[in-house]
Amino acid sequence: MYRIVFTQVLSRIDPEDIHHLTVGGLRLLSAAPVVKRLVHRRLAPRDPALRVQAFGVHFPSPFGLAAGFDKDARCVEAMSALGFGHVEVGTITAHAQPGNARPRLFRLVRERAIINRMGFNNAGAAAAAKALGRTRGVPVVVGVNIGKTKVVPESQAADDYVSSAKELAPLADYLVVNVSSPNTPGLRDLQAVELLRPLLRAVKEVADGTPRRTPLLVKIAPDLADEDVDAVADLALELGLDGVIATNTTISRQDVSSTETGGLSGRPLRARSLEVLRRLRARVGDRLVLVSVGGVEGVDDVWERLLAGATLVQGYTGMIYEGPLWAWRINRDLSRRLRRHGVTDVRQIIGRTAG
Ligand SMILES: Cc1cc2nc3c(=O)[nH]c(=O)nc-3n(C[C@H](O)[C@H](O)[C@H](O)COP(=O)(O)O)c2cc1C
Repeated sequence: MYRIVFTQVLSRIDPEDIHHLTVGGLRLLSAAPVVKRLVHRRLAPRDPALRVQAFGVHFPSPFGLAAGFDKDARCVEAMSALGFGHVEVGTITAHAQPGNARPRLFRLVRERAIINRMGFNNAGAAAAAKALGRTRGVPVVVGVNIGKTKVVPESQAADDYVSSAKELAPLADYLVVNVSSPNTPGLRDLQAVELLRPLLRAVKEVADGTPRRTPLLVKIAPDLADEDVDAVADLALELGLDGVIATNTTISRQDVSSTETGGLSGRPLRARSLEVLRRLRARVGDRLVLVSVGGVEGVDDVWERLLAGATLVQGYTGMIYEGPLWAWRINRDLSRRLRRHGVTDVRQIIGRTAG
């Protein structure tokens, strides 16, 4: 059904207009207590076999929504009701900013991919904190992904992240330092260990200081060289971070026809994202929580990532092509597959094929 609507209607409309319409609709759903609860009861994961625990947080399913969809934390409850085991909001910056000029979001339908150069358009940390403070009604695990305000120079990046962390860490189930989006000039340079160490240290101090100690993760790019993936993993261990999210979008254009600038997500990212996950797992074993994201389309991908050592798996682009029941379907299929394999707890398969 969604496929027909997508081909006949949605694919003919500007993708960013659809995004705003969708978020508007989901916001209404988030604000309608009865409907929200009904949808949650029908679509949210309830199979105990799907439950995972990571850095002290309980997730009803390992599958969650990646950052970038709900940039201002406006529809977290609706996304939870639709079946996502967690919702990562953001990227949120300390100051509100408009992002890049439109058009900045492009569908590559044949390749089941997206290119975006949104540039962290968001209403800023204070507005997001207000929105998060309003959530109640259905249970939702919220990750908060923070990034650098565009106009802030690299030399003041740590202060800028710290300012967002102070505002948002107390409201987050986990906090993510995003240093991997390709659409803020210079941002990915912060992945170099000499720059990343002081930045992560400063944010960690804030995260450690919240009443519940907010778990801290770092999100990395698929375009890092393998040695740099290892270096970030080592740094995460050294600083006592809780996990690594791999990966963000890629600037590579291998196997795609479009030459639009921005970050590429979806199917073409799948292989590299999995490769980075395997590399991380080989480096850190189960000492860090690994969150795998990039090119996940269905239960086969989720299954593969879990076996390769991811405790949590995320997706975004898949939802654009599969529709609003995507997460529900993945959870349903994952439950079935676990049962078929005689597995009563998804945690039993995590890392099973890792070396
Ligand atoms: C339109 C769009 C906007 C995104 N914005 C962000 C963002 O603000 N912060 C971030 O960390 N990742 C962002 N991402 C990256 C996703 O979180 C994810 O890492 C990437 O898309 C790979 O997953 P996918 O192939 O399932 O989409 C964005 C992705 C898309 C498609």
